[in-house]
Amino acid sequence: MSDVTMDNKEAQKKELDSSSASSAQSNKDAILEISNISVSFDGFKALNDLSMTFMRNELRCIIGPNGAGKTTMMDCITGKTTPDEGTCIFNNNVDLSKLSEAEIALIGIGRKFQKPTVFENHTVFENLELAMKTNKTVFFSLFAVVDDVMRDRISEILKTVNLSEHADQVAGRLSHGQKQWLEIGMLLMQDPQLLLLDEPVAGMTDDETERTGELFNSLKGKHSLVVVEHDMDFVAQLKSMVTVLDQGSLLCEGEMAAVQSDPKVIEVYLGR
Ligand SMILES: Nc1ncnc2c1ncn2[C@@H]1O[C@H](COP(=O)(O)OP(=O)(O)OP(=O)(O)O)[C@@H](O)[C@H]1O
Ligand SMILES: [Mg+2]
Repeated sequence: MSDVTMDNKEAQKKELDSSSASSAQSNKDAILEISNISVSFDGFKALNDLSMTFMRNELRCIIGPNGAGKTTMMDCITGKTTPDEGTCIFNNNVDLSKLSEAEIALIGIGRKFQKPTVFENHTVFENLELAMKTNKTVFFSLFAVVDDVMRDRISEILKTVNLSEHADQVAGRLSHGQKQWLEIGMLLMQDPQLLLLDEPVAGMTDDETERTGELFNSLKGKHSLVVVEHDMDFVAQLKSMVTVLDQGSLLCEGEMAAVQSDPKVIEVYLGR
């Protein structure tokens, strides 16, 4: 058995061990429950008693002014930052503060940072192949040797991320938007339960932005997606619930139309 599979077993064991922490009031359909988290940097509160819940297979958008704490919230979920107070509970029973960043990735939380990070000198196909080879779940450890299974999965992902025609192209020659899609494809190869995307359409052309919206809409119901964005046309295209953060706290939450007409949101963000 590979070390990688051992790592995964360890993470799963921790998942089971922490199941006793699940509370009587926990929401069965929640993929992630953030409860009262606070984070301070040199006395400055980047997150201040923030609570929110993401449901399984929902697409959620997070908006808010620069410095509101959106990226810090993602850092807390993925283990990059440990909150001073509060908890992030995944799948009703996993306290993420007890896991390392690597373990959090292993239990099915994928993250896309703003800048695309693909292997520039490899083809699109090879990038997806490499992503699959680093997939550490037992399922793919068993099937990674079966070439046909791997090829089918890569073809499916290529289609999902609009890159079928570019399979043999070197990734370094893709447009910025195509690189972003490739990286999303690489994350999808890991079959994450929850995918966090920080400003995925920044720097994209209007056409690429619209196609990214179509891509995310097609992922609804298959993965839970949390998307941080400043592009309001893009957020509107996703027709999702929108959560507004301001000064490290939740300002309001609701459908896009309600959020856009909320005087508090206009004052701190949209009216600027
Ligand atoms: N490692 C750090 N050290 C010190 N301060 C930090 C650190 N990380 C974030 N901050 C501060 O915390 C606050 C929240 O930052 P964060 O990056 O989470 O905001 P954001 O909502 O993602 O903003 P943007 O829309 O500009 O990306 C900011 O004031 C930022 O300067
Ligand atoms: Mg940010």
